[in-house]
Amino acid sequence: MSAGFFLTFEGADGSGKSTQARRLYEALKAEGRDVVLTREPGGSDGAEEIRRLLVEGDPGRWSAETEILLFFAARRDHLERTILPALARGAVVISDRFSDSSRVYQGATRGDLRAKVDALHRLMIGKEPDLTLVIDIDPELGLKRGLARHSGEDRFEAFGAEFQQKLRAGFRALLTDFPERCIGIDGNGSVEAVAARVREALKGRLP
Ligand code: TMP
Repeated sequence: MSAGFFLTFEGADGSGKSTQARRLYEALKAEGRDVVLTREPGGSDGAEEIRRLLVEGDPGRWSAETEILLFFAARRDHLERTILPALARGAVVISDRFSDSSRVYQGATRGDLRAKVDALHRLMIGKEPDLTLVIDIDPELGLKRGLARHSGEDRFEAFGAEFQQKLRAGFRALLTDFPERCIGIDGNGSVEAVAARVREALKGRLP
C-alpha cells in the first residue's frame, strides 16, 4: 500500500477539469501539502513525447488499436516515473485523466475496445486512483470550449458532436462501474461554483 493519495479528474474535452485540477493543486499546496499536478497523455518526459503523436494531426492517423497501445505506453512511463515515486513519498497526486479516459474515449470509438482497454490496464498498469472526480457538462458547450482554444491539440475534438454525446454517456457510466471511487461533479456554472463542489466532494477523503 502506498502512503500517498491518488486523485484523478475525468471528463470530456472542455469540461473544465484541467482548470479544476490546477485550482485544487494550488489550494492544497497553499495548505502546505506535498502535492503533484500531472496529466495524461503525458506527465513524464517520454509520455509527453508520445502525447504529441496522439493529440496532433489527422484524426485517422492511427487505428484505434495502435492508439490504445500508445496511450498505455505513455501511461506506463507516467506511472513508473511520476505517479508511483510521488505516492511512495506520501504525496497527493492529482492527475488530469488516467485509465478511465481510455475506457471512455477508446470505448466510445468502438464499443468492443473496452475489454481490450481493461485487459491492458490490468496487465500493464494495475493501479486505480483512490478517488476520481468526473466532471459533467453539456457536450455542446464542452466542444465549443475545446475548439475555441485553438491549441493545435484538437484531434479528438475533430471527431464531432455525436462522439461528444457518446463520451458523456461513457463518463456517466463510470459512476456505476466504479461507485467506490468515482464521484460525479456538475461542471456547469462558474469556475468558483464548480471548485466549491470539488472541495465538498473531497471532504473527509484526503488523508
Ligand atoms: P486533454 O485534452 O485532456 O489533454 O486530453 C487529450 C486528448 O486525448 C483528449 O481529447 C482525450 C484523449 N484521450 C484518450 O482518448 N484516451 C486516453 O487514455 C487519454 C488519457 C486521453
